[in-house]
Amino acid sequence: MRIAVVGTGHVGLISCVTFAHIGHEVVGIDANGAKIETLRAGRSPFFEPGVQELLDEGIANGRLRFTSDYSEGIPGVDAAFICVGTPPRASGEASLVAVERATREMAACVNGPIVLVEKSTVPAGTHDRVTRTVAHERPEIADQIRVASNPEFLREGRAVQDTLTPERILVGADDPSAFETLRRIYEPLTSKGIPLIETDIATAEISKHACNAFLSMKISFINAVARMCERSGADIGSVAEVMGTDSRIGSSFLGAGIGYGGFCFPKDVDAFERVAHSLSYSFPLLREIARINDEAIEAAFLKIRDALWNLDDKRVCLLGLAFKPNTDDVRFAPALALADRLLGEGATVSAFDPAAVEEARREQPRIEYADDPYAAATDAHVVVLCTEWAEFKELDLDKLKSVMRYPVFVDGRNVFDPGDMTRRGFTYLSMGRPTPGARGA
Ligand SMILES: NC(=O)c1ccc[n+]([C@@H]2O[C@H](COP(=O)([O-])OP(=O)(O)OC[C@H]3O[C@@H](n4cnc5c(N)ncnc54)[C@H](O)[C@@H]3O)[C@@H](O)[C@H]2O)c1
Repeated sequence: MRIAVVGTGHVGLISCVTFAHIGHEVVGIDANGAKIETLRAGRSPFFEPGVQELLDEGIANGRLRFTSDYSEGIPGVDAAFICVGTPPRASGEASLVAVERATREMAACVNGPIVLVEKSTVPAGTHDRVTRTVAHERPEIADQIRVASNPEFLREGRAVQDTLTPERILVGADDPSAFETLRRIYEPLTSKGIPLIETDIATAEISKHACNAFLSMKISFINAVARMCERSGADIGSVAEVMGTDSRIGSSFLGAGIGYGGFCFPKDVDAFERVAHSLSYSFPLLREIARINDEAIEAAFLKIRDALWNLDDKRVCLLGLAFKPNTDDVRFAPALALADRLLGEGATVSAFDPAAVEEARREQPRIEYADDPYAAATDAHVVVLCTEWAEFKELDLDKLKSVMRYPVFVDGRNVFDPGDMTRRGFTYLSMGRPTPGARGA
């Protein structure tokens, strides 16, 4: 099949390289000319395991090309996947400016039958807007343009794997030919047993927001229980284990910590609440999920401040800046929210991340970035683990302690064993777990 992917970011580029890998002819279109130049030079603009290899493969076998010119990319394709950003507005609503622009640009270049596929996460009803925009832009060809929804469920850090072996593929459409086109596109995956769920378009749109809101709810739920554990002396690790062994609950997304971040959960919880509001349904649970997530950052901040007394003239080292391991994405990263809070209270903040330093530097230039964890921790009054990168589990903890000014360790992801850390001489504070002999520095 001939496919255009509009927007070559974290979702779009993964779609480009994986569609090419399973045999399609793909053109990636992006409004950002510099990004297209980078891709044409054969380089991935961001770090994601496996992407560079598939990019090399697609360019080498000629199935993958990139352009910033819609008129070079759209004519003749069977389907165009909209993968542009839908960032939050101040109100929490998703901004659909890029979706509208992309729709207009695509409509202007269509020259035959095509399915426009929403892959970006959009509010229920967006398909109607896309359809009306297309009809307005190209009334003479509107009957050849179908609109479908194919929400993306990939997880950054394992995006290629998730896309090539997803738990399910969701397609929403209201036209048999649109379903048929998407079935053919995904045939290389469905023929291996991956389920394809077909629904109407509004159901597909709502399902994506519902999934992200529900997963965020699990994280906020366990973080709220962690606050109760801290006040009662209970251990959130054991509580989560007990909960997780109930198959109705399941053990995933029950890790207490400094909360969720990234370009999906925070904005999608807010956007879903706004969708509910626009449908005249009050869904305050969604606001609570976001509030508890903010509270998780505040809980870590208060532990740090409590341990150090005053933050002025104190040096706080953050280990991990990306919103999760195996990505350089720092959008809505808890580590940066914590950094802002600490800087605002007069602390000096140093940091190290295995992949995200350059991205973080753009967002928060006031952090002192280091090339390795020990350099970041040198003279620190406290080290805070913010992202559970695998390499942090291999840290030489005695060396880390030896370079610090005070041996205070706040484990924002509950990676280390409290007893072991205490035996090593750290004042060790984690999230929702009892702290052996905890006192500040
Ligand atoms: N990042 C994730 O893990 C993830 C997972 C599932 C769904 N989503 C959803 O997918 C969508 C895209 O997310 P992302 O993380 O890939 O965003 P991103 O910011 O990484 O990429 C968006 C890309 O779209 C381009 N763009 C913007 N306007 C354009 C236009 N008019 N024409 C062409 N290109 C344009 C930008 O230059 C950018 O390269 C969002 O709706 C997001 O909620 C993201």
